[in-house]
Amino acid sequence: MVESNSADLMDKIVSLCKRRGFIFQSSEIYGGINGFWDYGPLGVELRKNIRDCWWNDMVRRRDDVVGLESSIIMHPKVWEASGHVGGFTDPMVDCKVSKQRFRADQIFFSAVVVDGKIVGYVTVLESERIAEELQEKAETFKRKKAIQGKLEPVQPRDFSEAKPEEIPLIPSPATGEPGSLTPPRAFNMMFETYVGPLRDESAVAYLRPETAQGMFVDYKAILDTGRVKIPFGIAQVGKSFRNEITPRNFIFRSREFEQMEMEYFIADDDDWAKWHRYWIDWCREWLVSVGIPASALSEYNHPKEKLAFYSKGTTDLMFKYPFGVQELWGIAARGDYDLTQHAKASGQPMEYFDDAKKKRYVPHVIEPAVGVDRILLAILCSAYCEDQAPDEKGKMETRVVLKLHPRIAPIKVAVFPLLKNKPELVKKAQEVRDLLRPYMTVFYDEASAIGRRYRRQDEVGTPFGVTIDFDTLGEKGPELADTVTLRERDTMKQERVKISDLLGILLPRVR
Ligand code: GAP
Repeated sequence: MVESNSADLMDKIVSLCKRRGFIFQSSEIYGGINGFWDYGPLGVELRKNIRDCWWNDMVRRRDDVVGLESSIIMHPKVWEASGHVGGFTDPMVDCKVSKQRFRADQIFFSAVVVDGKIVGYVTVLESERIAEELQEKAETFKRKKAIQGKLEPVQPRDFSEAKPEEIPLIPSPATGEPGSLTPPRAFNMMFETYVGPLRDESAVAYLRPETAQGMFVDYKAILDTGRVKIPFGIAQVGKSFRNEITPRNFIFRSREFEQMEMEYFIADDDDWAKWHRYWIDWCREWLVSVGIPASALSEYNHPKEKLAFYSKGTTDLMFKYPFGVQELWGIAARGDYDLTQHAKASGQPMEYFDDAKKKRYVPHVIEPAVGVDRILLAILCSAYCEDQAPDEKGKMETRVVLKLHPRIAPIKVAVFPLLKNKPELVKKAQEVRDLLRPYMTVFYDEASAIGRRYRRQDEVGTPFGVTIDFDTLGEKGPELADTVTLRERDTMKQERVKISDLLGILLPRVR
């Protein structure tokens, strides 16, 4: 395996995604639009497989979770009741000189203290090495200003913690000079639009910033269908929109993204911590089942003092991305906050009559919420690999391979006739393609040398390759007739199998 440093690895993944048709910058021919991405032919397949795996495991294979697809634009009162109109904000800071905009909690600064006296300030943007970078900058600052004395260790704080008198002294991350950063201002991240022909206040509506509110708003309608009993969940997959101040790290933080959320309703006196733990473990195991190594995952418990007042506990499953350990999946215990808010705002009771307990109550909620795009990026980062493999002439060369789990690989099997100018080989290969196609995604490729074709499939994560050669036609004797070479991507091992056995061998390995 060839080791890459983190920035290199991200560059390689972004370039592979573009080159092979996974992900493109949106509207690229017009210079692109920041925070929006398009998924190309292989990207849509990968995304669909992630979504389908989640839906099958979360909804179809369980008795206690049902599905929902609510509208993206909902009544504006939904977002007032949920608290989004008043409070779905990030602290925004402008640099008046460079005109760049930052999130206050992504700017880190420290006083430079020499012999107990503050002699200046240094700033860095959020990274894996905040303290080290600030210390390096503090040392450079002291050296450049020729200040004598003992430099004290830096004390990193984020910009939202800066005192008003410190703000003019803190250098802008854009210019390196103090005096141009504004105090943080609350910036609401919801995208606004107008519904109907009038463009006034009464017509304002919002693109949803999360799918979750759909589940709370439709909770009663679903309860009334009589299909569900506490404890039960409502799950939804769909687009969400946030006007992020600083979209970044490829598809990690975008302005349009897709969420997979589930609201699990439990009795008001049930052991919420037990259910919270249950769903954290479920999410972790699910991530492993789609090919994310357990060793790249960790848990972050939000400190009590930073939780919303209604929240009993929030744990994030974190993934070690090349740009740092970051939130992948949030699992929140939200109490009865959302249903109570909607009951108050709509005047509709949200109580549940518990037959077994003979009492009415507003259920409490555990919410596992994740972004499809963040999972997709975590999967690509986990799968990207470079190793050494022999070329056509036996010379070792670097092979790029996406070791995608067969469950989510965009193409499950590639079918190759050994040569494209031999009609018998082509005909047989097309028969094999047509045999497999009703059951899995098949890519048929007859262009260029067979080794090159294998490499092309390795690079996009196709777990199996089937080659039709002269043995298949029975040229080396009847015992090999109608057999093919089945090649496995990761080991590159090849075995000879009968065409009639192919489906039986492949199906259990790709599902
Ligand atoms: N309903 C709760 C909720 O939406 P969140 O932590 O704001 O919670 C849940 O979002 C998940 O959605 C995150 O863990 C992340 O995977 C994904 N997500 C959030 N904002 C995102 C963005 N701007 N771009 C991509 N994914 C995002």
